Amino acid sequence: MSLIDFNSATINTRRYSGNGGNKYGVNFNDENWILKFPKSTQDLNNPKASYATSPLSEYLGSKIYESFGIPVHEVKLGFRKPGPGTRNKLVVACKDFLDSEQRLIEFKNTKNAQFFEGGNAGTSGAGTRLDEVLETIERSLDFIGFREDVRTRFWDMFVVDYVLGNNDRNNTNWGIIATDKQILGLSPVYDNGNSFFDKRNIDQFETRLPDELLLKEDAYETLVSAYVDDSGNHIILLKSFLQWLIRVVMKLSSDLFQIFEWQKLRKYLMKFLLLKMKY
Ligand SMILES: Nc1ncnc2c1ncn2[C@@H]1O[C@H](COP(=O)(O)OP(=O)(O)O)[C@@H](O)[C@H]1O
Ligand SMILES: [Mg+2]
Repeated sequence: MSLIDFNSATINTRRYSGNGGNKYGVNFNDENWILKFPKSTQDLNNPKASYATSPLSEYLGSKIYESFGIPVHEVKLGFRKPGPGTRNKLVVACKDFLDSEQRLIEFKNTKNAQFFEGGNAGTSGAGTRLDEVLETIERSLDFIGFREDVRTRFWDMFVVDYVLGNNDRNNTNWGIIATDKQILGLSPVYDNGNSFFDKRNIDQFETRLPDELLLKEDAYETLVSAYVDDSGNHIILLKSFLQWLIRVVMKLSSDLFQIFEWQKLRKYLMKFLLLKMKY
């Protein structure tokens, strides 16, 4: 694999939000691509020192989503000088998945339109209480006709982000595509830039590698979700996924066990999942 030289790509009129670093739209091979720069000021030929790995994180995270068969934006790695007189930086190019008629409605804005049980306004669109997020998924008018896809995507991301160590799947980092006339469906997955501890530089990975305790901390303890419980504590990704799974199994089994007398299997399934949660 070779890095693409993006220096001749002309800057287009598309601009993007997000705190993950500088980014802008370019025309590359007659298509619109976003170039995401790392936050650090180091240059491509001096990757030691404080070179954050975020373009690599976006690339790896997105390719892993792709390998799971989950729709995700197309990514390429390359380099570009951010301005005249500067040196090349490593960049990740993400293909803009919107055509000129379309726009992205981030989940944040869908949630901002949502009233909850009893007309309650809830927290803001950016609010990350998991109960509000799940209620929005179940009730929002924006998801009529493809709610099952939204539910599946949300939990797919929950699991894959756990694997990637991506704790930044907040309400701006997923959404749906719409034109002025209609909602078209889910957008591909985007913003995987926080995968694999993107704020570290290569030296920090080197230090952690031989230290079993630090590695365990990375693998098991730091993988909290962007979402919080109703006391404001960040949710442990795997635990909440398993809690959700237990609810699904309970529901499935209470339907099933009205027909069959398989109580022992039901008890076993519960214990099996609860034990996994303790791991
Ligand atoms: N492939 C894409 N196509 C179209 N819009 C995108 C794409 N990737 C990101 N965006 C938009 O740009 C915003 C910022 O990009 P993002 O990758 O989330 O940056 P950051 O890491 O700074 O949060 C997103 O919230 C989304 O609105
Ligand atoms: Mg983002």
